Amino acid sequence: MLSWLARRYLSGTGGMIDLATISRLPDSVLWPLRRTGLDPVDELGRRREQEPVSRMQVPLGIRAWLVTGHEEVRAVLGRADAFSNDFSNLTGRAGVAAQHNPGGLGFADPPVHTRLRRLLTPEFTMRRLSRLAPRIEEIVAGRLDAMAAVDGPVDLWQEFALPIPSLTICELLGGLIREHGDDIGDLELAGLADGVLTGGLETSASMLALGALVLMENPATADSIRAGDGVDPFVEELLRYLTVVQVAFPRFATRDITIGGVRIAAGDAVVCSLSGANRDGSLGTGMDRFDPGRRTAPHLAFGYGIHRCVGAELARMELRAAYPALVRRFPRMRLAGDPGDLSFRETSIVYGVDALPVLLGS
Ligand code: HEM
Repeated sequence: MLSWLARRYLSGTGGMIDLATISRLPDSVLWPLRRTGLDPVDELGRRREQEPVSRMQVPLGIRAWLVTGHEEVRAVLGRADAFSNDFSNLTGRAGVAAQHNPGGLGFADPPVHTRLRRLLTPEFTMRRLSRLAPRIEEIVAGRLDAMAAVDGPVDLWQEFALPIPSLTICELLGGLIREHGDDIGDLELAGLADGVLTGGLETSASMLALGALVLMENPATADSIRAGDGVDPFVEELLRYLTVVQVAFPRFATRDITIGGVRIAAGDAVVCSLSGANRDGSLGTGMDRFDPGRRTAPHLAFGYGIHRCVGAELARMELRAAYPALVRRFPRMRLAGDPGDLSFRETSIVYGVDALPVLLGS
């Protein structure tokens, strides 16, 4: 998602910032995206305890804040009247030109956001989604068959995690285009399709891969999922614990506002750490631990407020179908190599693995 954001953001003709600059962003900006294995670095928890709204050292003269507390993140994401998602707030600052605006649902404010979101919402009603359910089961079964036919290690990322959401989204997009192809302009339709594809692909794929890793590390949980017990709470706890979308899109204060006792000035940028918020002690005890027996910690893995993930229920459907089918079909599934050799994506907005080699048979 970071690369997509960077591509969209920097593809304009201004040329005052180039892609290399983003990859060289200093650690003072990137550190909230760092993890040790599946866990955010300790500094994120420390920051949340001591200063849930803290200054971020951003170059290029942009004044920015990092928000890590659960209540404080909700306070920002819930105030679309005081925080804008529109990148044009950066126009004219730090060499950002108007054509750098990435566009699309996640970067639009009302009323444009309201209109675009209304076009999408009907595709995501439970009634529409339930029609997709059998197709998702088929897609999952198809991938399991393909994996079973492989001799030796299988890359679960390439063969399972990526194809399931890709194929599911293709089904959905064909719906979208048939019904709205004539209502909106080609560019807007392409923007919506791009948003759905990028919003729904890497996110769900990362959840599928990292969730499979958690299942391999927790055999007792895998046993109960295999038996069909507690799949829904397992998926919710996994969404909270993994929080693969580590930060929300940047918000820009449209007026002076106080969040968590800290004064944020109009024009300041605000980065909400969802992975920080989802481990806040106010949600319960031991929130750094994965605990599938935990009951309903209200997580922010899908965001909050008007930009809350439009695909949340679809993602849940994919996850609830895929994990039980995976552990039932391959009860002996295990990592093909040393866990220490796994390559996690460093400083990526969507956390994940580059590959997940597993052995399936005896
Ligand atoms: C487990 C999988 C997923 C996770 C963790 C996730 C997470 C998120 C989060 C945190 C946001 C809010 C970002 C913000 O406020 O800045 C968001 C928005 C969005 N998501 Fe997802 N998402 C997932 C799956 C999907 C799927 C399957 C789709 C569509 C097929 C999708 C489409 C979108 C779109 C279009 C938005 C923008 C909504 C708006 O701005 O109104 N996501 N997602």
